[in-house]
Amino acid sequence: MYDIHCHICYGCDDGAEDLETAVRMVALASEKGTRGIAVTPHCNVPGSYTNYWSGELAAKIDTLRSAVEERGIDAEIYPGQEIFCTSGAAGLLESGKLITLNNSRYPLVEFDFYEYSDSVYAKLRELVSKGYVPVVAHPERYAFISEERDAAAILKSMGCLLQINKGSLDGRFGPAAYFAADDIMRRHLADVIASDAHSPYMRTPDMRHIHEKVCEEYSYEYADILFEQNPLRILEDRETVTF
Ligand SMILES: [Fe+2]
Repeated sequence: MYDIHCHICYGCDDGAEDLETAVRMVALASEKGTRGIAVTPHCNVPGSYTNYWSGELAAKIDTLRSAVEERGIDAEIYPGQEIFCTSGAAGLLESGKLITLNNSRYPLVEFDFYEYSDSVYAKLRELVSKGYVPVVAHPERYAFISEERDAAAILKSMGCLLQINKGSLDGRFGPAAYFAADDIMRRHLADVIASDAHSPYMRTPDMRHIHEKVCEEYSYEYADILFEQNPLRILEDRETVTF
């Protein structure tokens, strides 16, 4: 499996607080069958985490990669960010203050949970018009997705990809997120599942049990696309596949 959404940029956000914790998270993911993980700190959040791309962030990722290698943990570490999408995000990507997943065409973007759909569409349209393929993080957690049944399909028709959180499928984020995630899955609108892990104890990067659940409740073929094929294609800047 490959995990394109994980808060292991230690000391950057509300994820791993130090290097040791980040390494433990990578070790757990690897034990459970994850072969590659993108480091995706929250960034560009107004009044909160800025985390613009810098030599310091790049050095942190290098340090994490070295620590993972030194301990013999079998997992590739990729650079990335979870971008809080604002109307200026495309310009910030072009200027290098924000980065995509492993410098591909795919930025991982999030929104305020209560943002209106029209505002979300306008911001995503701007990214698409600049040639990016936005990967919308946890769409099932946004109010407008639950309230407007066509919203997930509209995001897809605009050229975006949808990344479901593993925690939504086991009910961790409540019934609304669960039902929205299930609906997106049943309509085969999901492109990738990721951990959105924040710690080695709660919201962990262990995706094995959700992989098994997706195999049982949806299909083995769809699970292969969501956990293996598409996340790797995103990290390698290749076209994704649909089910
Ligand atoms: Fe996240």
